[in-house]
Amino acid sequence: MISVLFVCLGNICRSPMAESLFSYRVKEAGLSDKIFVSSAATSTEELGNPPHRGTLTVLKKYGIPLVPHRARQLTVRDGERFDYLVGMDLQNVRGIRRIVGENHAEKARMLLDFTDSPREIADPWYTGDFDAAYRDIAKGTQALLDEIRKKYGW
Ligand code: 4NP
Repeated sequence: MISVLFVCLGNICRSPMAESLFSYRVKEAGLSDKIFVSSAATSTEELGNPPHRGTLTVLKKYGIPLVPHRARQLTVRDGERFDYLVGMDLQNVRGIRRIVGENHAEKARMLLDFTDSPREIADPWYTGDFDAAYRDIAKGTQALLDEIRKKYGW
């Protein structure tokens, strides 16, 4: 089993969007028994809260089923058990490395680092643009799944 943890600041906007979209792609590819997917926050701001309304709306618009989730904070144990710790921006990657420690720091990457045009994914909590976040997350999750399938011969 390969495990992927999507991480953002609050775990209510970008990372739950990535969790739902990536889970959908994994299911479509028939790999649900091979790839475990979850999400977490670096901050404590939104702990226990459901995904943001903007995330729910955009997932619905594109026909992606929501994976039910409540915001939780990334732990040291996550760093040990997940193979991929996928942040949305550089601040997330720094936050992941701070929490999981140097032993697992190399597992932390930005989602768009898996694409041909690595860059940060803007936070719709501040920009209000959930469609832009969706487009970036769609690109990133496709590239990440391609990379995993290639690496493991799936
Ligand atoms: P996210 O967006 O990191 O994409 O979930 C945010 C949600 C909440 C906060 C910041 C970013 N907040 O400060 O509460």
